[in-house]
Amino acid sequence: MSTVKEQLIENLVEDDEISQRKITIVGTGAVGMACAICILLKDLTDELTLVDIATDRLKGEMMDLQHGSLFFNTSKITSGKDYSVSENSKLVIVAAGARQQEGESRLSLVQRNVNIMKSIIPSLVHHSPDCKILIVSNPVDILTYVVWKLSGLPPTRVIGSGCNLDSARFRYLIGEKLGVHPTSCHGWIIGEHGDSSVPLWSGVNVAGVALKTLDPELGTDSDKDQWKNIHKQVVESAYEIIKLKGYTSWAIGLSVADLVGSILKNLRRVHPVSTMVKGLYGIKEEIFLSIPCILGQNGVSDIVKLNLNSVEEALFKKSANTLWNIQKDLVF
Ligand SMILES: *[C@@H]1O[C@H](CO)[C@@H](O)[C@H](O)[C@H]1NC(C)=O
Repeated sequence: MSTVKEQLIENLVEDDEISQRKITIVGTGAVGMACAICILLKDLTDELTLVDIATDRLKGEMMDLQHGSLFFNTSKITSGKDYSVSENSKLVIVAAGARQQEGESRLSLVQRNVNIMKSIIPSLVHHSPDCKILIVSNPVDILTYVVWKLSGLPPTRVIGSGCNLDSARFRYLIGEKLGVHPTSCHGWIIGEHGDSSVPLWSGVNVAGVALKTLDPELGTDSDKDQWKNIHKQVVESAYEIIKLKGYTSWAIGLSVADLVGSILKNLRRVHPVSTMVKGLYGIKEEIFLSIPCILGQNGVSDIVKLNLNSVEEALFKKSANTLWNIQKDLVF
C-alpha cells in the first residue's frame, strides 16, 4: 500500500541540500531573535540556523519561527547546541554573551564575553571555514578583535556591527529635528560603538547641503541650536532603553539585517562598521573601530578614506586609546 505522499508526488531528482545563502545566528536572546525575524522578513536567506546553549529556549524559538513559515520564504530553519548544525554557513552572526545591566558600560562586559567567544569561535570556523562573521555582542569593537584572533580568518571577513546602529540613531534624530525622513538625512558616527563614538559634523547633510556651511558652530558647545545634544542622545540611548525595557533589540536587529543584505547580495554599499584600523589615522595597534566600509560577498572589501579634521582625528584616536587600554590586558 503506497502512502498518500507517494500517490500524490513522484520524485524526479534528489534535492541537493547545499545552501548558497545559509546564515547562522549564535545566541537566541532578544538581539539574536530580532536579527532572525528581520532577516526572514527581508528574505535574505534560504537556510537559517540558530545555535545556543540554552536548549529549551533554542528549540522553542526555532519552532516559533518555523510556524511562521507560511509568511516568509526561507525554506529551512534549523537549530542545535552543537556547531555541526552551522556547517556551510556563508555568514555567521554572533549575538551571544552577557548583556549590559542597567547603568553598566559596554566595556565592563569584556572579560565575561571574551570567555564566551573562546567557547564559540573555533568550532564555528571549523564547520564553516569560508564564512564571514558579523559580531553584534558587546563590547563589539573589542570582541571583533578577539573573534578575529580566535578565528584565524582574514580581518576583512570579521566585521563588527559597530557604529551602524549609532549612525542610524543619529540620522533618525537629525530627521526628527528637521522633519525629514532619516534616509534623506546623511551623517556618520565612527569610532567606538559606545561612549567615545565620534560624530562627523562636517559631513552631516541633506540633499548635499552640509549643515555646517549654514552654521559653522554646528555640533560645538557654542551652537545655539544645540545639535551636540543629538550625539549625546545617541550615546545615552542604549542606557535609556535598557533602563526602560531591559535590553535593546528592534533597532539593532533591523540594522544588522541591513548589513546582512549588503553582504549576501554583494551590494557594495557603504556602512559604518567595525574593522581593523591599524595604520589609519595614526593608529599603531591592532584595534577594531567603525569607519565607512564597502560591504559585499567578501566582507569588508574596501574602506572609504575620510578627510578627518584635527578635532575629529583627535577624538578618533582617543576612542582607539580607550579600547587599547582594555584590550591590551585581555587574556584569551
Ligand atoms: C515570498 O514570496 C512571495 C511570492 O513571490 C512574495 O509575494 C512575498 O512577498 C515573499 N515574502 C517575503 C517575506 O519576502
